[in-house]
Amino acid sequence: MRRKVAAGNWKMNGLSASISELETLKTVKADCDVIICPPATLIATMVKTAGDSGIVIGGQNCHSKLGGAHTGDISAEMLADIGARAVILGHSERRADHNETSSDVHAKVSPAWAAGLQAIICIGETEAERDAGTTLSVIGEQLAASTPNDANAKNTIIAYEPIWAIGTGRTPTLAEIVKVHDYLRAHLVDRFEDGDHFRILYGGSVKPSNAAEIFALSNVDGGLVGGASLKAADFGEIIKAAS
Ligand code: PGA
Repeated sequence: MRRKVAAGNWKMNGLSASISELETLKTVKADCDVIICPPATLIATMVKTAGDSGIVIGGQNCHSKLGGAHTGDISAEMLADIGARAVILGHSERRADHNETSSDVHAKVSPAWAAGLQAIICIGETEAERDAGTTLSVIGEQLAASTPNDANAKNTIIAYEPIWAIGTGRTPTLAEIVKVHDYLRAHLVDRFEDGDHFRILYGGSVKPSNAAEIFALSNVDGGLVGGASLKAADFGEIIKAAS
């Protein structure tokens, strides 16, 4: 019922030479949505390289305002103008490095939609919150506060990324992932008419060797992948696991 998503987050990685990875990925037969979010400097070229392959190119952040005196920032309209069709919002690295709160994230979502971008809203608990047994309440609050009321399954994707699993090689157990995703599904169904149709991605140390078992879990509709999305050989395997 829900088409799976393999989304790559290149973070602050990638120079012109990395575009060859996309050329290789275009040859992978995908039966899922494929989204790649390179650094802003590569978006325009990667949109051209992606061509009609069906691979969506997205941004990693946008400002909540359409334009103005915000040195160093990029608006949703600017991303759309160079061909981006999605944007990651509220990634934990932005929440940590730039003090973004869920209400800051919320303020960016509607402008992203208005520009025609699909919002990939990220939530996730710290290790301390996990150890304290507060994972569900933390992510429930983040989801509620980051997501506007007019979200729907077309304009929004949710990504659950436990912060302690990002870039560490550690992942929750499969049962823990199911518990969180089932909880998020119930929250979405409760709040949105089409809550059953939202894609909920898992992120945090997804790699070729664990992608298939994670993507097969209840209410896991694919992955948001950092490190393993940088090389086409690895991300290609992850795309196949989502297909
Ligand atoms: P990782 O990053 O796959 O390198 O753990 C995931 C993310 O931060 O989106």
